Amino acid sequence: MSESLITAALRERLISVFEDPSYRPPPLPSVAMELLALSNKNDARATDVVRLLEQDEMLAGNVMRLVSSPIYSGRSRITTLREAVVRLGFKVVRDMVFEVALRSGVFDLDEYAETVAQVQRHSTVTAYIARIVCNKVRIDGDHAFICGLLHDAGFAGLLFAVTHFEGAESPPLEALWAEVDALHERASGILARLWGLPDAFVEVVGHHHHLHTDEFSKVAAAICIANRLSRSFGADVVGPADAQGVAIAADFVSEVDFEIARAELRIDDQKLDEIQAEAEQLVPQILWL
Ligand SMILES: [Fe+2]
Ligand SMILES: [Fe+2]
Repeated sequence: MSESLITAALRERLISVFEDPSYRPPPLPSVAMELLALSNKNDARATDVVRLLEQDEMLAGNVMRLVSSPIYSGRSRITTLREAVVRLGFKVVRDMVFEVALRSGVFDLDEYAETVAQVQRHSTVTAYIARIVCNKVRIDGDHAFICGLLHDAGFAGLLFAVTHFEGAESPPLEALWAEVDALHERASGILARLWGLPDAFVEVVGHHHHLHTDEFSKVAAAICIANRLSRSFGADVVGPADAQGVAIAADFVSEVDFEIARAELRIDDQKLDEIQAEAEQLVPQILWL
């Protein structure tokens, strides 16, 4: 079979596994999902949030560890979950829960563990930069952080699907990479839908490389900027080495999309420099967490 036929067959197979109604990705932790629902209610109380978090001891412990990191700890230390909710706010704690939940690995894939870890690291950095972008341009970036965390989940979701090919050993990453990269955006959208996330999330993560062809929200523009800036911190997604030993690039953010996103958010050169400077302060701290 010629190389292009192998590629076409692989693409076909990947899509068919992924779009099969019986395909079930590993779920997001229920506490994170319940917290997301709770954060949309106006009458939610700190007690409700704490009670929910206490249902998952490990998650709560990891949130407290994150709370005590330099990113969140102010002059006086936060020592309880209740204090964290009251001082940092409900939505920041909700975002933290998603962060620690995704860091502990929704997709547990021995075969492609390094790539999954790299995508997770990239996604965390993208989420934090997206928050900086939203603050800088003063837009309501309520769900930008979680979209940043999830925008490239399609990479892991597709590799997870590969490990479910019937009766076959998982192919080497080099054989899959181009197709996984090409499909990851669509896959992220499918995953967000299968996880039951609200439409606004599905839209953003499922079109994060296509601002030039679709209508898009301001949050999508923030994700696009953050996605691109993550490269300058060495936190971009790269694939396996090619025949010449050079890592194959992936998750490419086009100049066109980047400029469209900047125009939408009115980010001039000065603002972009300010965003970059804030990210330079913050990202090294995230990478240590
Ligand atoms: Fe990305
Ligand atoms: Fe992407």
